[in-house]
Amino acid sequence: MAANFQSWVSARQSDFEEVLRGILPRPEAAPQRLHDAMRYSVLDGGKRVRPLLAFATGELAGADVARVNIAAAAVELIHAYSLVHDDMPCMDDDVLRRGKPTCHVQYDEATALLVGDALQTLAFQLLAEHRLSDDARRQLEMIKLLAVASGSRGMAGGQAIDLDSVGKKLTLPELEFMHIHKTGALIRAAVLLGAYCGSVSASQLDKLDHFGKLIGLAFQVVDDVLDCEADSSTLGKTAGKDAENDKPTYVSLLGIHGARDMAKSLHREALDTLAEFGNSAQRLRELADFIVLRKF
Ligand code: IPE
Ligand code: IPE
Ligand code: MG
Ligand code: MG
Ligand code: MG
Repeated sequence: MAANFQSWVSARQSDFEEVLRGILPRPEAAPQRLHDAMRYSVLDGGKRVRPLLAFATGELAGADVARVNIAAAAVELIHAYSLVHDDMPCMDDDVLRRGKPTCHVQYDEATALLVGDALQTLAFQLLAEHRLSDDARRQLEMIKLLAVASGSRGMAGGQAIDLDSVGKKLTLPELEFMHIHKTGALIRAAVLLGAYCGSVSASQLDKLDHFGKLIGLAFQVVDDVLDCEADSSTLGKTAGKDAENDKPTYVSLLGIHGARDMAKSLHREALDTLAEFGNSAQRLRELADFIVLRKF
């Protein structure tokens, strides 16, 4: 990772941590156990890839950082909620997340369920109570964008397909459909929301949208590869879980080399969509590289 990119990432991550600390309910406020569990599940962990994508497109679109902070936080809260629920016994049944016991292990299942509910509604509260665009209609579009990306036509729908696919052999298009929804949708939303906080032309928005779709899919292909290649301490979550749970993945369908090739070709395609942006898309290119080349 280039030193300049590394320092940009570190600065954005640490500023964003403070933003999240300020947004989440104080741990001493009632109901304390729920608030504590919400903070436990969101703070001090995670790569913050979705917020970083929003910051990169926000910079490209000349957006006010205070606005991008809110949009990025909304996406990250939805993502954190999706992880809390994904780890529950009724879903992937995992005990380790971001290097710590999963929420339902540290607290209990009912609390984990409520953490997800409360993080999700907090995300939409943020989008409704802060000004994110000078154009009120644009702001409504942003709220709708995140709602669709999170719901049955987005992440939650993808998760439903994932659970329904246990023990099945999906075709490549079916697997792509599942991944684009369960993971791609929120990543694409992060890219677009950052851009919506500033201003870009319709044709630039199209390109960013396409970039978001490709890199979102690549993200989950790499997640599948790492599940099978990396170890639990590097990942901060239980390695080998997909095979253990008999999930169809890019690795189970194409093999490890096939999955890596797929990630590489999505990466190339994603970079191609940024060609016209010149230097203004440098952070996005670097994030695309990170997403595909990461080891955790
Ligand atoms: C893990 O996401 C779940 C997927 C959607 C693949 P991340 O790899 O972004 O998890 P954190 O936020 O860094 O912990
Ligand atoms: C999860 O996919 C996608 C979500 C919507 C949370 P995975 O089940 O592969 O995520 P990990 O590997 O547990 O992080
Ligand atoms: Mg899962
Ligand atoms: Mg999982
Ligand atoms: Mg996984």
